[in-house]
Order: sequence, then structure tokens, then C-alpha cells
Amino acid sequence: MILKNSRENIKKAVKKIIDGEIVAFPTETVYGLGADGLNPTAVAKIFEAKQRPSFNPLILHIASRDQLKELVNIESDKVYKLINHFWPGPLTLVLPKKEIVPDIVTAGNPTVAVRMPQHQIAKALIEACGKPIAAPSANQFGFLSPTTAEHVEKQLGEKVNIILDGGKSDVGVESTIVEVVDDKVLLLRHGGISLEQLREVCDSVEVKEIDSDKPNAPGQLFHHYAPNIPMKFISDISEHELDGKKVGGLFFKENNTEIDFTHVEFLSQLGDMREAAANLFFHLHELEGKDLDLILVEPVEEKGLGIAIMDRLVKATNRYR
Ligand code: TXA
Ligand code: MG
Repeated sequence: MILKNSRENIKKAVKKIIDGEIVAFPTETVYGLGADGLNPTAVAKIFEAKQRPSFNPLILHIASRDQLKELVNIESDKVYKLINHFWPGPLTLVLPKKEIVPDIVTAGNPTVAVRMPQHQIAKALIEACGKPIAAPSANQFGFLSPTTAEHVEKQLGEKVNIILDGGKSDVGVESTIVEVVDDKVLLLRHGGISLEQLREVCDSVEVKEIDSDKPNAPGQLFHHYAPNIPMKFISDISEHELDGKKVGGLFFKENNTEIDFTHVEFLSQLGDMREAAANLFFHLHELEGKDLDLILVEPVEEKGLGIAIMDRLVKATNRYR
């Protein structure tokens, strides 16, 4: 059930989490499906609800630096640099874990992913629980990430009985994931903080080469983030492929094609990449709801947040190759 933002409703959600149940809640990136991150049985319920392969580790969401110190060993000053610049916000740090973090959270890895979100409701929830909240995006594994409470209800409504409503997520793509081990900074997933922004703070950020057969982030799987109807890049369609089909379009700024679309959406009519990222999953959910046979999408320029957007679009279209 979707519950509007109120003190009472946050209290209800806190009680659920303390009782070892799962709750969906808003963050500035996408909605999360949360459980008490130190309670392995509660965390198992997340995997069950999402139908997520259990080898994929989860992010622990925290509200203070004291909480961070309970969970990880900080061995590099670069961690503090990154935190000072980007927390609270859309940056996840993967750091050497302490004993207290359960294996189900890290999928047996010696590291754990931690993030301090900026969204007021997320903060209030974590603070009131007094525990780190383990949360993946609140969608069925492999499908579109949710940026509204209604999106969560559409995919997981039968499995989660509290969905806290915090309006539309304003970043709109998942957090950027960075691993800091032995003073090396490695980018594992493109997201709400761009590579350029990271490099302004830490001069040596490497982008990890990805082996998509052995991902340690689902974002690294070959296909992911997909709508439940076929999606392709416009440049990949062949002649007559659209005949007799109801086709939807997702454009960056404008539609320069002659294609007879049933429905079109624009990421940002002003051509603003931040707005485009914020709207990406929202428009894909809209298109998913239009009873189409196919969605055609235009690539965006791979600069700044455009890299994170293209990462999602490429993986979504890979599902239908
Ligand atoms: O913006 C976000 O990050 C959202 C919101 C809810 O915070 N969460 C999110 O979670 O996107 P999820 O589970 O959908 O993606 C988390 C990613 C996964 O790709 C996971 O494999 C990776 O983080 N991850 C978690 N722990 C890791 C670790 N120890 N090493 C490498 N990757 C890790
Ligand atoms: Mg996800």
C-alpha cells in the first residue's frame, strides 16, 4: 500500500523494519526496497521479493558517519575526500567490511557497499531505525527501476505492504558506485555522480573493466533495467520491421524521424542532461503502460550523466537483441 509522507507513516515503516520486514522507501536516485541490514533473515526477504539472484550484494544505507565507522575499515584519505564532497547524495562507496556486516548483504565479498542518501524521508527512516538499511532498487530483478511510489506498486505491490511516498526521485538514475581499496579508486557503475565530477575530487579514478559473466554488480550484467516490452535503438531497426506495429519513441530533445509513432516521450525538451537522467525511468514506465509492441529509443551523447543514461539504455535494449 502507498502511504503518504507523514510522521505516523514513517513510524509504521520503522516498526516494520525493526520487526524484520521489508518496506519500500524513496531516495533521490530511485526507490529502494529496504530491510534491517544487520538482520540476515530480513535481508533474505528482499531477495525473495525481487526474485534477485542471491550472488548480487546489496547497498547499506546510513544516516551518519558514526554508522559508517561501525561497518567498514577506512584505509584511505580518498574515502574522506569523496564523502566530504558527495555525501549525502548519489554516491555509493565499496569499502573493506567489518565483521558485523552479514554475508548475505555482501554475497560473501570482503567489501560492503555503503551510501548516505539525501532524501529527507530516507534520512528520517534510517535515523529512526538506528540501523543501516540494506536496499536494492525496488523493482523486479532486471526490469525498470522505480522513480515514483506508483512504479513500485506496479511491480511489487503484492509483495510489499508499505510503500512510503516521497514524490518523484529527482536524480532518477542509480547512485554511482566507486570502490576504494588499497588507496585505489575504481568506478564500478556509472550513475548520478559523473566520472568528471569524481575526477575533480580524486585525480586518479579508473573505470573497472567489466566481465559480464562474473558481475559483482547487477548493473554490470549484459542486460538489465529493461521495460517489459521490446526496446531497440532507432538505428538498429530494419526495413518493414515496424509494419503493423504500435511503436513508442523515446527521444532526447526532439523527434527528427518520419516514423508513425503511437506515443512519444522526450527526456528533456531543453536538452538538459540532468533533467534527462531524472526523467529516464519515468518515461520508460510511461511507455511501458501504453500497450505498445515496440519502443524505439534515440541514443544520447555519452558525456557527463549521458554515460549513465546510455549504460541503462544499452543494457535494456540488450535484453531484446
Ligand atoms: O541509487 C542506488 O544505488 C539505489 C538506491 C535505492 O540507493 N540502489 C541500488 O541498488 O541501485 P541495487 O541493488 O539495485 O544496485 C546496487 C549495486 C549492485 O549492482 C551490486 O552488485 C553493487 O551495488 N554492489 C553491492 N555491494 C557490492 C560490493 N561489495 N562490491 C561490488 N559491487 C557491489
Ligand atoms: Mg537495481
